[in-house]
Amino acid sequence: ADNNKVRDEKLLAVCQLLNENVEYYNWVGFYFANHENKTLHLGPYVGAETDHTVIPFGKGICGQVAESNANFVVPDVKAQDNYIACSLTVKSEIVVPLFVNGVNIGQIDIDSHVIDPFTEADERFLEFVNQEVAKLF
Ligand code: SME
Repeated sequence: ADNNKVRDEKLLAVCQLLNENVEYYNWVGFYFANHENKTLHLGPYVGAETDHTVIPFGKGICGQVAESNANFVVPDVKAQDNYIACSLTVKSEIVVPLFVNGVNIGQIDIDSHVIDPFTEADERFLEFVNQEVAKLF
């Protein structure tokens, strides 16, 4: 994403709100796509620091969502072979793409410390969150 301080502050506030209000949302962050070189770049996030600030399309859960344009719910990260581990405390993950004018510009990524917490309600909720976030772009 291009530099935009006010927008980044709002995105961080969204991450904080989600992290503080949903017990099983233990790491919440946005990745943004660079379609020129097919990489994702970490944006605002709340939770443990991660080494994975740049992720190639196709790699890990995030990289797969960059190509599939579809939600990816991972009930148990141990069962995934194309997965990038950020922390040993992470047990499950949900990634929901962020569309602006029909283009997949990035995603919200949420890690959980519990196994299999994400339901279709999380998917619908995070799709709604991303629709609101899209209005910032
Ligand atoms: N687990 C992700 C990498 C990003 S971290 O969760 C913050 C993946 O497999 O794409």
